Amino acid sequence: MRARLVVLVSGEGTNLQALIDACADEGYGADVVAVGADREGIAGLARAARAGIPTFTRRVKDYSSRADWDTALAESCAAHHADLVILAGFMKLVGPRFLDRFGGRCLNTHPALLPSFPGMHGVRDALGYGVKVTGCTVFIVDPGIDAGPVVAQRAVLVQDDDDEAALHERIKVAERALLVETVGRMVREGWSVHGRKVRIGN
Ligand code: GAR
Repeated sequence: MRARLVVLVSGEGTNLQALIDACADEGYGADVVAVGADREGIAGLARAARAGIPTFTRRVKDYSSRADWDTALAESCAAHHADLVILAGFMKLVGPRFLDRFGGRCLNTHPALLPSFPGMHGVRDALGYGVKVTGCTVFIVDPGIDAGPVVAQRAVLVQDDDDEAALHERIKVAERALLVETVGRMVREGWSVHGRKVRIGN
């Protein structure tokens, strides 16, 4: 049985593309069955359309409350029978109603080595702090901000002449590889969570 991935995006969608490309391999063990977004007209949605993958858009402003949006987002993912929901550059916090349904099987990817530099500007904040090593983190989403149990991390060296864009591009190269590798191992080998510790496989 191949795992059904629903990927949520807000922007460029290069992590989504890496997952779509990985799923083309029979042995990968998963398919991207739908792509959801919180806004229209983004490259991530265009990538999905080019790959023939169904899309949906759920904008917060179209709902009378954040909770209603959260419910609608969860229902859209459930309608595609998601085994795993992957936030790949999705710039919204999912809420309690979403986590009631997908808690423990919703992953996020962040462009810093959590718990350092959570939030919207992980790359900028790391550069501003002056760290020499940063990287990326794949983690299981919980109610906090970039606070859930860590599944995998990869380090990236900061160079003296890095600006935010250059550093983020190098992090994204590592991030795409890490995400593809981690999701693939999780769907093929299974995983368990013990407190804050995540173990892939038996
Ligand atoms: C990725 O670097 C991801 O970690 C980051 O947005 C980028 C999306 O790139 N997400 C966050 O900063 C969330 N806090 P992509 O759209 O090309 O996949």
